[in-house]
Amino acid sequence: MRITEHPILGKPAEKRTIEFSYDGKTITGLEGEPIAMALEAAGVLIHRYTKKHHQPRGVFCAIGRCTDCVMVVNGQPNVRTCITPLEAGMKVQTQYGLRAKEQ
Ligand code: FES
Repeated sequence: MRITEHPILGKPAEKRTIEFSYDGKTITGLEGEPIAMALEAAGVLIHRYTKKHHQPRGVFCAIGRCTDCVMVVNGQPNVRTCITPLEAGMKVQTQYGLRAKEQ
């Protein structure tokens, strides 16, 4: 779900729809929006699993402070997806502990 009109901010600026990879699947998002928001719009709520207890985590603070939204992006672990802009062709993977699951 996306905000199409905000009562105070009005309508968001038009953005280009782009494709990126999420755990091997090609999905779409809006160029420049936070990766986490593109995933949320696609119904993806789990971004990582904790190292010790393997518990799921997703967006919590949404301002780059808590690290619950970290994922492996283009092979780089611990990327805060709530503050990282989406680019065409990005490879985004669920993070298990400190890395992506071997595929
Ligand atoms: S949700 Fe807290 S750092 Fe991204």
